[in-house]
Amino acid sequence: MSETASDRSTIDALREDFRARIAAASTDAAVKTLADEFLSRKSGSVTGLMKTLGTLPPDARREFGALVNALKQEIETSVDERRQALAAARPPADAVDVTLPPRTRAVGHVHPLMLVRQQVEDIFTHMGYEILEGPEVEDDFHNFEALNMPPDHPARDMQDTLYLGSPIVGGTWGAHRGSVPDAQVRAATLLRTHTSAMQIRYMKTFPPPVRIIVPGRVYRRDNLDLTHTPMFQQFEGLVVGEGVTMANLKGTFKAMLTALFGDVKIRLRPSFFPYTEPSAEVDMSCHKCAGAGCAICKQTGWLEILGSGMVHPAVFEAVGYDPDAVTGFAFGIGIERLAMLKYGVEDIRLFYENDVRFLEQFS
Ligand code: DAH
Repeated sequence: MSETASDRSTIDALREDFRARIAAASTDAAVKTLADEFLSRKSGSVTGLMKTLGTLPPDARREFGALVNALKQEIETSVDERRQALAAARPPADAVDVTLPPRTRAVGHVHPLMLVRQQVEDIFTHMGYEILEGPEVEDDFHNFEALNMPPDHPARDMQDTLYLGSPIVGGTWGAHRGSVPDAQVRAATLLRTHTSAMQIRYMKTFPPPVRIIVPGRVYRRDNLDLTHTPMFQQFEGLVVGEGVTMANLKGTFKAMLTALFGDVKIRLRPSFFPYTEPSAEVDMSCHKCAGAGCAICKQTGWLEILGSGMVHPAVFEAVGYDPDAVTGFAFGIGIERLAMLKYGVEDIRLFYENDVRFLEQFS
């Protein structure tokens, strides 16, 4: 009997040991190791007890056998339950792992040229200008002739023009606010070399006063280098009315450049454009060195910004305005040039290569 009692306590000890450890088994492998430790055919501790049954007298064998069997069944049931519980807690194969770092979304950026264009448009909108665009494919009349450049005029050589293989007849020109039908149906023969062509289109369509800004692409037969691209962008400005003077022109540039670059000085240098008289090249004091001289302004303290002048009477005559009744000023600015100065970009080609590493630096 004492033997049975001690075996009984062996069974109790095994059960307690098993119960404590199955609860802590947190993986399939741990459960299997534990199950083997108790039940494996060769070395399981419960299997070992089974093997001793044959040595007991029949009564004790029956009684003890029932106890060992009960333990064995408890272990088997617990092992099954533990396995099922682990399986239920395991995420499905296609589950989202919420602990992974998130995939960042690729956010688009406004192109630096568009940023500058928007700023300039804002500045002039606040000054009461109308913003409108025009056709990129132009005819000779609007791009040259009406701008005081007759067919044999040497000033046409100032810009190398890209002509079309076959001319296009007809078309309309769009505007931000509405679109105006092309009054004169002429064959378009070239890609406009400057936005100045829109001075003519606008004045032929609308009477004075005029206060417009025309942003847009222009084309020239230039090879790509640090400062040239065959397509680039400009702003044309045109103001016409009674008593418009060169002082208005100067004040306008001062306001625009100060808004774009901070507190800069401006100066006008005599220049030549066939469609303005007098003509002026406008410089601003270098915004990097405040005029002291640096690499950006090539030690001069000044940066060339735009071409401008008082509208030539011949231009007014070409569009049917009375040169004795109105005066005006006009100007053209390169948008790339402004963006290069503003953002310190040294190679104009970067604007058109669309390398995301470049573009994402502007926001
Ligand atoms: N059209 C000139 C260019 O493309 C820029 C320009 C100069 C425009 C003087 C003007 C102006 O309206 O008055 O280089």
